[in-house]
Amino acid sequence: MADAVSTLLLFGATGDLARRMLLPSLYGLDADGLLPAALRIIGTARTVLDDAEFRDRTRAALEEHLPQGIFKDDVADRFLRRLHYVPLDIKDPSAFASLATDVGDTSGGLAIFLSTAPSLFKPTIDGLEAAGLASPTVRMALEKPLGTDFASSCEINDAVASAFPEERTFRIDHYLGKETVQNLLALRFANSMFEPLWNSTHIDHVQITVAETVGVEGRGDYYDGSGALRDMVQNHMLQLLALVAMEPPTNFDATAVRDEKVKVLRSLRPIGPDDVEFHTVTGQYTRGAVEGQPVPGYADELGRASGTETFVALKAQVDNWRWKGVPFYLRTGKRMPQRDTEIFIQFRDVPYSIFASRGATTRPNKLIIGLQPEESIELRLMAKTPGLDRDGVRLREIPLDIGLANAFSEYRRRIAYERLLLDLIEGDPTLFVRRDEVEAQWKWIDQIRSAWSAKGISPRSYSAGTWGPSAAIALTERDGISWHE
Ligand code: BG6
Repeated sequence: MADAVSTLLLFGATGDLARRMLLPSLYGLDADGLLPAALRIIGTARTVLDDAEFRDRTRAALEEHLPQGIFKDDVADRFLRRLHYVPLDIKDPSAFASLATDVGDTSGGLAIFLSTAPSLFKPTIDGLEAAGLASPTVRMALEKPLGTDFASSCEINDAVASAFPEERTFRIDHYLGKETVQNLLALRFANSMFEPLWNSTHIDHVQITVAETVGVEGRGDYYDGSGALRDMVQNHMLQLLALVAMEPPTNFDATAVRDEKVKVLRSLRPIGPDDVEFHTVTGQYTRGAVEGQPVPGYADELGRASGTETFVALKAQVDNWRWKGVPFYLRTGKRMPQRDTEIFIQFRDVPYSIFASRGATTRPNKLIIGLQPEESIELRLMAKTPGLDRDGVRLREIPLDIGLANAFSEYRRRIAYERLLLDLIEGDPTLFVRRDEVEAQWKWIDQIRSAWSAKGISPRSYSAGTWGPSAAIALTERDGISWHE
């Protein structure tokens, strides 16, 4: 692993992500003594502030967004002393020279985090390079969205690569910072019992659901140009799929893990115009109620009619030896009935039931990995219902259910960005997305989008507070499978 840097430079320091996630995460790391003692954090954005004003704003953000019980005055005072602020207009190239003066000597290592609109990435990188802030001791982290399609993502990646080689580029997918996502690797590769079953001989299908109750929450301008496929599937859900489907890496390191993920992403069978109507469903929410509260429709929230999907369900196939014939159903949407992120793996039923002659039916085993709101691992097994079986054997599905919050109650639940920021500061790229992964993701997504436009597919309506349009049910029922709810 590389050395820890001595300065973190945060672009977009007054933005929403910084206030809600990044600054609270850095505070959390500081509170646990995980930040290098001398680490300076320099925030920058267009708003004109001085250090004291930035610290006041940060204190308010910490009080508002840190999980309960974490904020402590003395820790906050220490953390805030690390903070400095430099106003900067990215579009003014000369401003970077004075930024470089404020940053000072970078020989102790500098990590830069771009949490700005992607349209600002190129001018920022050009400015940094011209000001000498792209030397070999500098790392660059990029927050999504990295483009809107393959071509625009290549433009961004090329601009980054012109100043920062791949080994110093850290592309963020915050799902990889989530503890349960990493636990997927532990479950698969630190236990011997699953691997022999982890293939098309024993697994019937996989479902990945990321359901959110929220709407677009003031992010309409960004979201309307993106939609669920690009906002959630292109990155987070394909990363989850890759972690479920990948071969065992030779080591838990950046090269080995990412080599295996990219092989899966490249094996995704393209969904073209001939399949798109059967293998994808899109929807947009209309007025309804979520968790008992009435909520407006997407177009009302946006203030105009729109053809953007807020829900997508699709059937993906991984064309390789391990997964031949195993569908991966993915589904994500805004304004669903409940917040629920899970990976559901259904095994095949027993090949022959000895209980059938006694009137009992078996059900296939299931492994359910819950990511949100609670972190859990549940294995559903068949068991005999107690009794003397005078009327035949009765079998019932019972859960072996482990809540990770209980199993690890002595550990604080961390924000996903804590892990990613620490890995950035320390220079470990394992949980960041490599360029070839992003490109494979975009290529697959672009094909779906062009098939949608070739077939004139537009989102069907669903009422807020439901599981999407009824066609999403048909997507799996056609294969004799029900969504796990
Ligand atoms: C972001 C998307 O990447 O992930 C948002 O842009 C979405 O639209 C969010 O709400 C979901 O993240 P999480 O961690 O709340 O599941």
